[in-house]
Amino acid sequence: MKKVLITGSNGFIGRNLLFNLKYTDGSEVFEFDIEQDRNYLKKVLKDVDFVFHLAGVNRTGKVDDFNIHNTELTQFIVDYLIECKNLVPLVLASSTQVEFDNDYGKSKREAETHILRYRDNGGEGYIYRLTNVFGKWCRPNYNSVVATFCYNIANGKEITISDRNKELQLNHVDDIVADFKILLSGQNQRSSTDILSVNPTYKVTLGEIADLIKSFKAMSGTVMIPDINNDFLRKLQSTYLSYIPLKDAVYSLNKQTDERGYLFELIKSKSLGQIFVSKTRPGITRGNHFHHLKNEKFCVIEGTAIIKLRHLISNETYDYFVNGKEPVVVNILPGYAHSVTNIGKDELITLFWANEPFDKERPDTYFEKV
Ligand SMILES: NC(=O)c1ccc[n+]([C@@H]2O[C@H](COP(=O)([O-])OP(=O)(O)OC[C@H]3O[C@@H](n4cnc5c(N)ncnc54)[C@H](OP(=O)(O)O)[C@@H]3O)[C@@H](O)[C@H]2O)c1
Repeated sequence: MKKVLITGSNGFIGRNLLFNLKYTDGSEVFEFDIEQDRNYLKKVLKDVDFVFHLAGVNRTGKVDDFNIHNTELTQFIVDYLIECKNLVPLVLASSTQVEFDNDYGKSKREAETHILRYRDNGGEGYIYRLTNVFGKWCRPNYNSVVATFCYNIANGKEITISDRNKELQLNHVDDIVADFKILLSGQNQRSSTDILSVNPTYKVTLGEIADLIKSFKAMSGTVMIPDINNDFLRKLQSTYLSYIPLKDAVYSLNKQTDERGYLFELIKSKSLGQIFVSKTRPGITRGNHFHHLKNEKFCVIEGTAIIKLRHLISNETYDYFVNGKEPVVVNILPGYAHSVTNIGKDELITLFWANEPFDKERPDTYFEKV
């Protein structure tokens, strides 16, 4: 079992890495953050197999802090690993800001020189230049505009957009963790002499980020979900959801009740269609219609039913006897009249999927008895 040290383990990237390694990797993880002392750090460094050095300061009112926490701490770790001849892989979370003339970038640039020195002394040093990282557990109103927008919009607060057209390059924290884990596994294809970056990098403007997060807010409390086929949208929405107040993690459904039972929509999306549920009383038949384009899947999860299909032209028919004890899915094919009848003594619960969200203006549903 590898002994792994994470510095900055209480921080955004640190916590995401920690909770990933703890639950999936089987490594023994040692944590180090601001409140621990250097003696403890030395004790761990002496015996560790791998170091993720993520501790650092991103924003501060005191310029000295950058030097102390970003540069000197890296120097300390490098010096001590060399001194005790434990030349294990050492990963530095540096930043693309090293290319700019600001105090943060400068402190990271200097931190990188210590990793280069580590390599010169036979150590395996890796430098990751990260862009703007987003994902769950990032501190809002600090250094991440995504965290700030997500938190404030989710909590009904105002946001300030300095320049809607400003383009950002974003890395998702899970992609960083995944990359780190490949390095840790020893199966890396990456040379320790390269400057490393994480893929994918998403290029988006501040205005687009704000609009998307506002659209997630507008969807909350409804059955709509965003296009989860879009990798960036899925990651951004997941980040947004990690900031919503718990009271907003529930939404009510529009249950339409009539003499047959009830029906409600559960999830709707332009890309995924919709999922809905019905309850049907004994002896009642639903359906007796067909669709030209819509494809549905019916799954009885409680009760007993007969699902009938009849081809509109050839009149070929098929009866599917289904029950909730051994669930199956019946594919409702376009151009077939179809119905579902509760033939049991108890109520029938059916789960449905359709390949398009129901559109009142174009329902694509035509009455036709099976
Ligand atoms: N997030 C990004 O977009 C991004 C982009 C490029 C590079 N990076 C770099 O990646 C690393 C992790 O970023 P992050 O977003 O996870 O930052 P973070 O949330 O601020 O986490 C950094 C952690 O390190 C701790 N820390 C600071 N100085 C320390 C010291 N001298 N000894 C021990 N612990 C110390 C911090 O404690 P306190 O909070 O109490 O100070 C914090 O818990 C940082 O080095 C950052 O510069 C981040």
